Amino acid sequence: MSSVKVMLVVSLFIPAVRPSSDLWKLECLPTVGIFAQTTVIRCFFKDIKDINIVAVSLSKAEQKEPFFAQDDSKRSGDPRFSLENLAVGPSLQISDTMFSDEGKYVYRVVTDCGDKKIQLSISVTAKYKDPVTSTWPEYVTDGGPVSLYCNATDGYPEGFIHWFDRSGTNWTINSELTKKTKDISGVKSVALSSKLTFKSINLDLAPFRCTAFNSKYVQDGENTLEITSARIDVNRDFSGSNTTNIIAGVMVIGSLIVGLLFALLCFRKRKFHRYETGRADDDDDDDDPENGDSSLEKSQQLTLKL
Ligand SMILES: *[C@@H]1O[C@H](CO)[C@@H](O)[C@H](O)[C@H]1NC(C)=O
Ligand SMILES: *[C@@H]1O[C@H](CO)[C@@H](O)[C@H](O)[C@H]1NC(C)=O
Repeated sequence: MSSVKVMLVVSLFIPAVRPSSDLWKLECLPTVGIFAQTTVIRCFFKDIKDINIVAVSLSKAEQKEPFFAQDDSKRSGDPRFSLENLAVGPSLQISDTMFSDEGKYVYRVVTDCGDKKIQLSISVTAKYKDPVTSTWPEYVTDGGPVSLYCNATDGYPEGFIHWFDRSGTNWTINSELTKKTKDISGVKSVALSSKLTFKSINLDLAPFRCTAFNSKYVQDGENTLEITSARIDVNRDFSGSNTTNIIAGVMVIGSLIVGLLFALLCFRKRKFHRYETGRADDDDDDDDPENGDSSLEKSQQLTLKL
């Protein structure tokens, strides 16, 4: 009890003695930005009402040069950074957040009531896309083996995929999650692939649902996996279409053969005809001369071509 009293007395007396900047506090909330979106770093003054910001500067820890600075209306440094709603407090805003913005910063705020320095830390995440699903094999037999896949990409950092059946039973524990991290010129992403394998599936459990979570277990996306069953009538349909195919094939080949035979017949007839008209040329025109000539021409063309 007595120590509390002493503290109270001390805290009552110290403000009067110390410089004015110790009358108030500067606080900033931990910030998680989303890649390619606008991030706001919420900062505010505590224990003071009448205070005006004169200048701010933001430096990356271990770097002398400020990353961003604003003095009245003069801005310098990274143009993606700005002060957000100056009237309310010294909150910062980053437009088009990048992974390189991650890290620790020192933020200095100068006011008409003195100045303050505070440590900031920014982390950057990326949202996972809605998962895509597939099964192997594509057509599943009730009671047969199957692997269900659920893949979520373009998120960061590493997340999770959970599985549920139609009644909401959690199958996650039976699944296997693989993660592949990519960094393409500073754009980080993780591809998640979850595999849920059954030696003998009960199709009454379908449809399955898989959910993609970010690293903080916040849901990013979800998808429902329908299972296409390989039933007998499906097979029958297949054999039916096979028979039609065979019949169609036979018909095409058959008509080709008939056409070929016909063409051969015509050719031979013309050859014979030419021979006959050639002999009868000297005597008289018992046959149609025009017809004979044209057929002669045609067969000559034909021999030329051949
Ligand atoms: C998911 O990923 C696995 C493993 O990389 C792959 O075998 C499967 O085809 C993928 N499925 C889809 C729908 O992309
Ligand atoms: C499902 O199971 C996983 C792994 O056992 C667990 O982490 C998760 O919290 C469970 N989810 C629900 C909704 O019960």
